[in-house]
Amino acid sequence: MAFNIVSFSFIFALFLLFPLSCNSSHKHDTSQKSYHRQHSSSSFDQKNSDHTKGKWILLHKSIGISAMHMQLLHNNKVVIFDRTDFGSSNLSLPQGKCRYNDEAIKVDCTAHSILYNVATNTYRPLMVQTDVWCSSGAVNSNGTLIQTGGYHDGERKIRLFSPCTDEEICDWTELQQNLTVKRWYSTDHILPDGRIMIIGGRSAYSYEFFPQNSDTNYVFHLPFLKETTDPKEENNLYPFLYLLPDGNVYIFANQRSIVLDYANNRVVREFPVIPGEKRSYPATGSSVMLPMKLVAGDFSPVVEVMVCGGANGGSFLQAAVGGFMPASRTCGRIKITDPDPKWVMEDMPSGRVMPDMLLLPTGDVILLNGASKGTAGWESAIDPVLNPVLYEPGQPDPNKRFSVLNPTNIPRMYHSSATLLPDGRILVGGSNPHIRYNFTGVKYPTELSLEAFMPPYLSPHHSHLRPSNTTAKGPISYGQKFSVTFTLGVSQDTKEVMVTMIAPSFTTHSFAMNQRLLILDIVEIQQLSSFAQKITVYAPPSRNIAPPGYYMVFVVHKGVPGHSIWVKMQ
Ligand SMILES: *[C@@H]1O[C@H](CO)[C@@H](O)[C@H](O)[C@H]1NC(C)=O
Ligand SMILES: *[C@@H]1O[C@H](CO)[C@@H](O)[C@H](O)[C@H]1NC(C)=O
Ligand SMILES: *[C@@H]1O[C@H](CO)[C@@H](O)[C@H](O)[C@H]1NC(C)=O
Ligand SMILES: *[C@@H]1O[C@H](CO)[C@@H](O)[C@H](O)[C@H]1NC(C)=O
Ligand SMILES: *[C@@H]1O[C@H](CO)[C@@H](O)[C@H](O)[C@H]1NC(C)=O
Repeated sequence: MAFNIVSFSFIFALFLLFPLSCNSSHKHDTSQKSYHRQHSSSSFDQKNSDHTKGKWILLHKSIGISAMHMQLLHNNKVVIFDRTDFGSSNLSLPQGKCRYNDEAIKVDCTAHSILYNVATNTYRPLMVQTDVWCSSGAVNSNGTLIQTGGYHDGERKIRLFSPCTDEEICDWTELQQNLTVKRWYSTDHILPDGRIMIIGGRSAYSYEFFPQNSDTNYVFHLPFLKETTDPKEENNLYPFLYLLPDGNVYIFANQRSIVLDYANNRVVREFPVIPGEKRSYPATGSSVMLPMKLVAGDFSPVVEVMVCGGANGGSFLQAAVGGFMPASRTCGRIKITDPDPKWVMEDMPSGRVMPDMLLLPTGDVILLNGASKGTAGWESAIDPVLNPVLYEPGQPDPNKRFSVLNPTNIPRMYHSSATLLPDGRILVGGSNPHIRYNFTGVKYPTELSLEAFMPPYLSPHHSHLRPSNTTAKGPISYGQKFSVTFTLGVSQDTKEVMVTMIAPSFTTHSFAMNQRLLILDIVEIQQLSSFAQKITVYAPPSRNIAPPGYYMVFVVHKGVPGHSIWVKMQ
């Protein structure tokens, strides 16, 4: 059970015992700040109900394209795109715009990218000029999406998308400047100085930066990427990347991981090999850096990486001849800041290849999408896993960490994606976009629908606990104290309140690039009126811990998050 639900009568009793006084202020007890939640039983039936198992909503039967890549922007719009080289999509470009002589058809007057408006559940077509298939991206410190690479005419492209207001008509800009080498299946990450690091890709055993500056106008070799390539299958594309509090970058590919001092092009650490299966494309697993718990003045918080799912070596070649091997059922956690780190392994409720792993505002992890047999690739997997699972990293009893949530009825296999929205929902889309958007003749055809998953915390059952009217003033400087105001229903106490900050991810191929969740250190909580509360927190201490840019700030009360607000760290 995922929720600690305190019955109303209990709260009422507390209220009688400890009447609330206005403008009271208390030093927050640090022992309350952990994201661990107790598991208490409650009196009502919880079988399959949305308040314990979550709920799916079909947002659109078709958005006209298949959501292969997604990036949420700080104006609450999501840039979504698939690829330009496989014929006409189900969405026309506006004003008679067309592209000519692409690889699939002579004239293509359809869109392969959209801008989705979260608040209105509407979208409009965007125009990408070159092939963005299996590309990568990151939002920079001013909120602009920097998207890199792709296929054929797009393999060295750098494209920008800057957020705009509803009155403006913004679209993709393709730069004249090219990537140093072609990058297809690479991973991007923002750095403390606001540059984007672009690493790897098929046969690209190197990394580079955007923007380039005069001293780093080069490509840097990284033999690790070659060493982790399996013959015939690769199993090391779309490496998992995390910027660390010491400014170095953690890189995981296949089953190995290292810390790279990118400024000096030196590998400074190597970790033990993760037991079990292979974890990178096409033996696609997923990964998160678990929530980082910050304490004022501490520049070296504990960093723990989690990797889940994947496939056995050989799975891809087997699938090509119609044999579907069971997907990996294991997850590994490793505290990479330990002097002698070791993988601690756990079993998921079921095996999963191509999972999407997302951090929730509560500090929990959700895994969704994917299949239980086979590997990444078209027609390379069967038996979709329709149930998301929730993982509570802070739950002390390992047997209680996973819980199975309500299923969707739409398989989300190869080229599906998912991202956290500012209201706490998960946006889910895409799957198996086939050449010429073919909808027939295969077991898992092109999927153009868009869904939202509402995790259990969004159930109306928890409304009385939900913080609302959240406000904060930005931009925010490193290490500075700042205040967040919010309202809580009458007779709610603030003992179990936390404030989390989440960077929006660029999600594709089961990895959410740039995803990070920081649990902020609370200074104090003041009651401003019977409903209104003011919570003062310390901003992250450094650019290594929170690279500059926009973050969603969530107030979470007893495991129930309110709608986030965007703050800019600078
Ligand atoms: C896409 O367009 C084709 C051709 O007009 C149509 O047959 C198909 O049903 C459409 N698919 C969706 C999901 O809208
Ligand atoms: C944001 O960054 C992009 C990429 O570097 C740049 O082209 C753009 O001018 C910047 N926008 C603002 C408002 O600074
Ligand atoms: C980038 O590459 C394209 C072709 O791939 C080429 O036409 C163009 O000149 C290149 N731009 C620069 C600035 O090198
Ligand atoms: C779609 O794919 C099936 C199976 O490969 C094929 O038989 C059919 O002709 C294709 N349809 C189109 C419109 O390409
Ligand atoms: C919260 O905001 C809503 C409108 O967004 C407003 O109606 C309500 O009065 C506000 N509540 C408080 C306690 O400020």
